[in-house]
Amino acid sequence: MSVLRRVLLAVGSNPLVERQMTTRALARRIALRFIAGETLEDGLTAVRAEAAGGRTATLDFLGEAVTSATAARAAQGTILDAVTRITADALPSGLSIKPTQMGLRFDPDLTSELLGEIAGKAAADDQHVTLDMEGSDVTEATVALCERLRAAGHANVGCALQAYLRRTEDDVERLTAAGASIRLTKGAYAEPPDIAFPTRREVDLSYVRSADWLLANGHYPRIATHDEALIERAKRTAIRLGRSPEDFEFQMLYGVRRELQGRLIHAGWQLRVYIPFGTQWYPYFLRRIAERPANVVFFLRALAGS
Ligand code: FDA
Repeated sequence: MSVLRRVLLAVGSNPLVERQMTTRALARRIALRFIAGETLEDGLTAVRAEAAGGRTATLDFLGEAVTSATAARAAQGTILDAVTRITADALPSGLSIKPTQMGLRFDPDLTSELLGEIAGKAAADDQHVTLDMEGSDVTEATVALCERLRAAGHANVGCALQAYLRRTEDDVERLTAAGASIRLTKGAYAEPPDIAFPTRREVDLSYVRSADWLLANGHYPRIATHDEALIERAKRTAIRLGRSPEDFEFQMLYGVRRELQGRLIHAGWQLRVYIPFGTQWYPYFLRRIAERPANVVFFLRALAGS
């Protein structure tokens, strides 16, 4: 991970900087490039627009690292509303959920219970639930949570994994053995070199190894990247292995590389867009800014401007 990215994530996480940024009009405007809006209605409107363009979606109610059961239950309420609306409006969307939004850092049993209820309701409409992968302090707990939910019969629960972590190739095999569909990402948090590959090249090579393995052996792999070289490589691998374009998908983030998304769809590949909505947009926005050096200029302008 680049020094710039590490510094930005550290500085941006400071509560004073967060307060400044969330009250600045320019920061809110920039954030709107990456999020659908602050309400469930905004999220659903974005899903409809993506569907009209041939894309499926995964909806994410923004929020993470809650510190009380009350907050976890409140977040679950909004997610259950989202499931209801996706079903009622017959939208092509699943859900992405951060386990720490359901209390993973203080009560894994509660997290399992809340997610089990969501997954049960979502299953009736064939909606897939992906556990987002967060910082390395909860990697093992998240992998174990996915295994636990699947062992409890929730066949529509999968998990995101991060190619930058040295352990990920093992987790890819472990969660595939549990029957899970895996979303492969590079990883968006600041992690130390003893557990994460420090260079871009090593992360990309790790991504290729896991993507190849998933395309050969995985259950409906979800190749989540905007990196064109990795996408081209995954296409070639799928063709070589005879994996049908209906049996895996590419995923990209709302507001990122729209033209590349369009090209993939035009060429007949499946593409799902990750659509975040909600008022708790700041940590998500910060990670989007940090993963691209050119975005840092936006961040500094927003911090200085009004
Ligand atoms: P890379 O960073 O190399 O970007 C390739 C190109 O894409 C860049 O050159 C640029 O053109 C464009 N690009 C990428 N990010 C951009 C941005 N923010 N703004 C503008 N352009 C950008 N991470 C995680 O830790 N846990 C998770 O659960 C998820 N979930 C997830 C779901 C989906 C659908 C996606 C696509 C990504 C995630 N991520 C994630 C984020 C992921 O880990 C990673 O940080 C970003 O996808 C950026 O990495 P790329 O693979 O796109 O490559």
